[in-house]
Amino acid sequence: MPADFDTIVNLAKKRGFVFQSSEIYGGIRSAYDYGPLGVELLRNVKAQWWRSMVQMRDDIVGIDSAVIQSPKVWVASGHVDSFSDPLVECRECHNRHRLDKLENPDQCPTCGSKGSFTDPREFNLMFRTHMGPIESEDNAVYLRPETAQGIFINFENVRRTVRKRLPFGIAQVGKSFRNEITPGQFVFRTREFEQMEMEFFCHPDEADEWFRYWVDERRNWYMNLGMTEENLQFREHDEDELSHYAAATFDVDYLFPWGWDELEGIANRTDFDLKAHAEYSGEDLTYFDPATNERFFPYVIEPAAGATRTTFAFLIDAYHEEEVRGEKRTVLKLDPRLSPIKVAVLPLSKKDDLVEVTNRVADLLRSRWMIEVDVTQSIGRRYRRQDEIGTPYAVTVDFDTLDDDQVTIRDRDTMEQDRIPIQDLVGYLADRLPS
Ligand code: GAP
Repeated sequence: MPADFDTIVNLAKKRGFVFQSSEIYGGIRSAYDYGPLGVELLRNVKAQWWRSMVQMRDDIVGIDSAVIQSPKVWVASGHVDSFSDPLVECRECHNRHRLDKLENPDQCPTCGSKGSFTDPREFNLMFRTHMGPIESEDNAVYLRPETAQGIFINFENVRRTVRKRLPFGIAQVGKSFRNEITPGQFVFRTREFEQMEMEFFCHPDEADEWFRYWVDERRNWYMNLGMTEENLQFREHDEDELSHYAAATFDVDYLFPWGWDELEGIANRTDFDLKAHAEYSGEDLTYFDPATNERFFPYVIEPAAGATRTTFAFLIDAYHEEEVRGEKRTVLKLDPRLSPIKVAVLPLSKKDDLVEVTNRVADLLRSRWMIEVDVTQSIGRRYRRQDEIGTPYAVTVDFDTLDDDQVTIRDRDTMEQDRIPIQDLVGYLADRLPS
C-alpha cells in the first residue's frame, strides 16, 4: 500500500524537508523551498545519480550549462513550435485545465459544469523573458525547459576537449522551468524543478542495444538505492505517445499515492537534436570514426530523470509506520546514502561534562558525515525524531562514558544497540555507511 499523501506532505512540512515558497506572503502556487533536511535529501539523490553516471564510469563526463541560452537553440530543438499542451478554460469558473489530462473532457473538474469549455488552444510551456534592459522581440529569451539541449550544443566542445571516442555520454544536473498549466501534487509537478539528464552518443547501428542497456542500468540504480520493486514499473510508449524527437521511450513510473506516475523517461532520441543544431547553426556536428573512416551523426540514448520528483518518491517509499511495544513508531527507512543526517549525537543530559564529551564525539564525526547534535527532550523522543527523519545511527553519550570512554550506538532499523569505545567509533560507522 502506498503511503498516504497528506501524511507525507505533513511530515515534509513538520520536519523541515519542504516549505511552501513565499509562505509569509500567503505562498505562491507550485513553488517550494527545500528546508534543512530536504536540501540534504535532494543533494544526496543528485550525488548518487552523479556518482553512478559520472564518477564510476570512464565513458561519461559532466557539464553545467547556462539556464539562458540563445533563443535559436529552442527553435532548432522544436520547443518553440511544439513544446505545448492543449489548454481549455471553463466559461463558468474561469479555471484552466490541460485537456489531455481531464478525466471527462466535457466536464470542468473545478466547478462541475458541463459543456462549458472554450475551444482548446496550444499553450507553449516555455517561460519567456527579456535579456537586458529593453523589452523587445529582438531580445526575447527563454528559461530552459530541459537540461538536455545544453548538452547537445556542447557536443563538439566536449568531444574535442576530452578526446572521447564513441560511445560516450555527457551528464548534467540542474534547474529547468516549465509554465505548467496544472502543476500539483506537492513537489511532483512544479514550474521550477531539477532534472538529472544524460545524453549517451553512439553509432546508429548500436542504438537499440544501448537503449536496452540504459533501461537496465536505470532500473538497477533505483533498486540499488532501496526503492521497493513493486512500486516501480517500466512502461514502453506506444507509437502515438512518442515525443517529436523519439524513436522509442520507456517511462519509469512510480506508484505514488494517487497512482502510477512518471519519474523518468528513457528515450532513443536518434540523431534528431545534433542534426537540427547542425542545420540551424551551420556547424559540423558529425562524428568521424578514424577506425572505419565513417562520418555520421551519432544517435543519442537519453535517461532523463526529475531530481525533485525522484526525491519525493524516495521520501514516500521510505515512509513506514510500525508498532513497537504497543506504541506507533514512524520511521523513514531511507538508504543511508540518501539519509539527510547520517549520525545523531545525543548526550543523555545537558550537564557540562557530558556536553564536553559530546562535542569531542561530534568533532570526530562531522568531517566525514552530516551529523546532528540534539540535546532537547527525553532520549526516547529524540530517538523517535531521528527515526522519523531517517537517521541510520544514533550515538548516545551517557554518564558511564565519562568513566569508560564508550558510547552506545543505536541502529535505526533493528533498534539494536552496541556499546563501543569512542576511539573505534569512526571505523564502526565507516563499515556501515557506504559512500
Ligand atoms: N530531455 C527530456 C525531457 O526533459 P521529460 O520527460 O519532459 O523529458 C524528464 O522530463 C523528467 O523531468 C520527467 O520524467 C520528470 O521526472 C521531470 N519533470 C518534467 N517536468 C516536471 C515538472 N513540471 N515538475 C517536476 N519534474 C518534472
